[in-house]
Amino acid sequence: ADTLREAAAEQGRFIGTALNDGLLGNAAYSAIAGGEFSSVTAENAMKWGSLEPNRGQYNWAGADRLVEFAAAHGQQVYGHTLVWHSQLPGWVENGGFAPAELREIVDNHIATVAGRYAGEIDRWDVLNEVFNENGTFRDSVFHRAFGEEYIADAFRAAHAADPEAALFINDYNTDGINAKSDAMYRLVSSLLADGVPVHGVGFQSHMILGQMPSTYRANLQRFSDLGLEVVVTELDIRMNTPSDAARLDQQADQYRQVIGDCLAVSGCSGVTVWGVSDRDSWIPGVFPGEGAANLYDDDYRPKPAYGAVLDALGGA
Ligand code: G3I
Repeated sequence: ADTLREAAAEQGRFIGTALNDGLLGNAAYSAIAGGEFSSVTAENAMKWGSLEPNRGQYNWAGADRLVEFAAAHGQQVYGHTLVWHSQLPGWVENGGFAPAELREIVDNHIATVAGRYAGEIDRWDVLNEVFNENGTFRDSVFHRAFGEEYIADAFRAAHAADPEAALFINDYNTDGINAKSDAMYRLVSSLLADGVPVHGVGFQSHMILGQMPSTYRANLQRFSDLGLEVVVTELDIRMNTPSDAARLDQQADQYRQVIGDCLAVSGCSGVTVWGVSDRDSWIPGVFPGEGAANLYDDDYRPKPAYGAVLDALGGA
């Protein structure tokens, strides 16, 4: 195998990228996105704020383009994300709705979005980032209105709208065993006990160079042992920029460890890297002076990390 996607397929896994539909006009970008990856996640196009900035006025263009691109390239689609406290349109966040009306708004959102793409989405992040670092539930317009019941309700609504999609809950800093991942473990255990249609847990894995959680594999394993699918959903490994050869090699090793840990866990179905190249990454905008976090450099050339991922997947 000489592409990531062929090598991953031979392992029975997928390898994904976060797709920015606005960059598909760039030939280098779209050749890599379509040729190397077997799954695409909508980096922004399927978020509520992108889809329905004003109540009842939908903007489907970006999400439709992504789904069409995936179909043209024989790729799976990872939908991201139905219910999240962030990138919400102002009309939802600040609408001051009574719980009963907000309930209708959320149900309608899930039914409309998951319903539109039913049959074309392999996995949905139904819930994103519901926890604080200490494992308590994050304050949000949803938690304030409904308490933690909003989580089970969202899974049920998504399952009704798209019975074929695998339904996920996704979070960051849940990569190792810690208070936050313990809370995730308790939550999904109780959802399963209650018969709620939850099928998988996403581990974002926005990592820092040299800080591989020592309990990464054990953590993925305990969720897999619940019978859930496990996905590394938003992998990147950032460093101070500019990068240098030694740190790019260190980064390659860390990428290799992540792939190896996923392959060692039977329920880990795949790994998605959060963006194609360093140029497209969200990191420099949010962490000034950091970046170089992805598999391709600013000129879309494969980095040592690319070779390490290919090698870890058993490719040439
Ligand atoms: O599209 C507008 C553009 O019209 C405007 O001129 C420009 C000016 O700021 O903003 C553009 O929107 C930006 C959008 O990305 C598209 O580029 C937003 O400001 C910016 O906030 C947004 O950032 C995204 C971020 O989520 C928002 O929270 C990143 O691209 C995206 O990579 C990032 O992804 C998240 C996952 O969804 C959840 N997990 C963490 C991860 C990293 O933050």
